[in-house]
Amino acid sequence: MTTPASPDHAEPWYLLGAGNMGLLAAHYLQRAGFTVIALRRDATPTLERTLILPNGDPVSLQLRCQRAPASETEPLVGAGPIRRLVVACKAPFSAAALSGVPLAADATVLRLQNGLGSLEGLLPEGARMIEVVSASAVKRDGDAHRVVAENDTWMGDRADGGPPAWYGALAGHWPKLHWPDDFRHRQWRKLVGNAVINPLTGLHDVANGHIFQDPALATEAEQLAREADQVLTTLDPTWPGDSLPGVRALAEATAGNTSSMRADMQAGAVTEIDAINGWLLRQAEALEIDLPAHRRIIAAVKARHP
Ligand SMILES: NC(=O)c1ccc[n+]([C@@H]2O[C@H](COP(=O)([O-])OP(=O)(O)OC[C@H]3O[C@@H](n4cnc5c(N)ncnc54)[C@H](OP(=O)(O)O)[C@@H]3O)[C@@H](O)[C@H]2O)c1
Repeated sequence: MTTPASPDHAEPWYLLGAGNMGLLAAHYLQRAGFTVIALRRDATPTLERTLILPNGDPVSLQLRCQRAPASETEPLVGAGPIRRLVVACKAPFSAAALSGVPLAADATVLRLQNGLGSLEGLLPEGARMIEVVSASAVKRDGDAHRVVAENDTWMGDRADGGPPAWYGALAGHWPKLHWPDDFRHRQWRKLVGNAVINPLTGLHDVANGHIFQDPALATEAEQLAREADQVLTTLDPTWPGDSLPGVRALAEATAGNTSSMRADMQAGAVTEIDAINGWLLRQAEALEIDLPAHRRIIAAVKARHP
């Protein structure tokens, strides 16, 4: 069931990154009555994909497409300045994906990516970037995209000015979508979980649950969590600073899962380590704090997959 169009629905959402998470967001946006246009690197006029919901129901997704510009100098044919954009490509491809996309000076951008800082310097100064932190899991399954878990999703922005007008319509169709007061802490909790679990499982090619069963990996996890807490507490003294139990609980709750970094490393793909551990390291450098465990693990991951 979709929501009938209102004046707020007149503005389409463009989607950069029509993969697992991008398609899930597109599905919720369409259900809420919004038009979604995928920016694709090929010239196909429509994109048809199947999303398999957690209850096994298949949903046929149809998105209008526009060819994304290949470079900054190539214009995007047929689109005026884009006022609403979802960025759901993997973090390292953000600059390439956004290159040449004509964003309006006051565009709203939903950043649906793990890690932090991947869009820094890439958006117009007046743009409103809303960060999306999702605990859902979507995986490629043959030609389809399978929603393995439909969990909480939190949205928030730096200005903390409260949700925009379209949020209410979307929240009615995006299960477990929240606009929490403590968004930044939720985002950081997800970041620390990723910064510990992803590189350790990727480097050692193990499932999430293995980390705390292996004493050597558990010690590394403890160091990574402690260093992350040191930076985050310096940035924000209200940060609780005791991340390890939460990371451990997450690893145990997802014991059999393959982290996205492990999957990327198995596939020989570029990882998101620069947006995850790299973000922590960049903050630490600015604060003149040394993070030896993060430095080592970033180097080790990059030595395998530069
Ligand atoms: N999947 C999950 O369960 C999950 C959960 C939480 C957070 N996340 C985060 O969500 C983000 C997306 O992950 P994902 O799993 O959805 O990745 P994905 O399935 O690989 O999708 C990324 C999409 O981006 C597209 N893309 C890459 N470069 C592009 C460009 N220059 N222009 C246009 N499109 C481009 C890719 O197109 P091609 O297919 O043509 O290469 C692909 O469709 C990541 O930051 C991830 O960490 C994912």
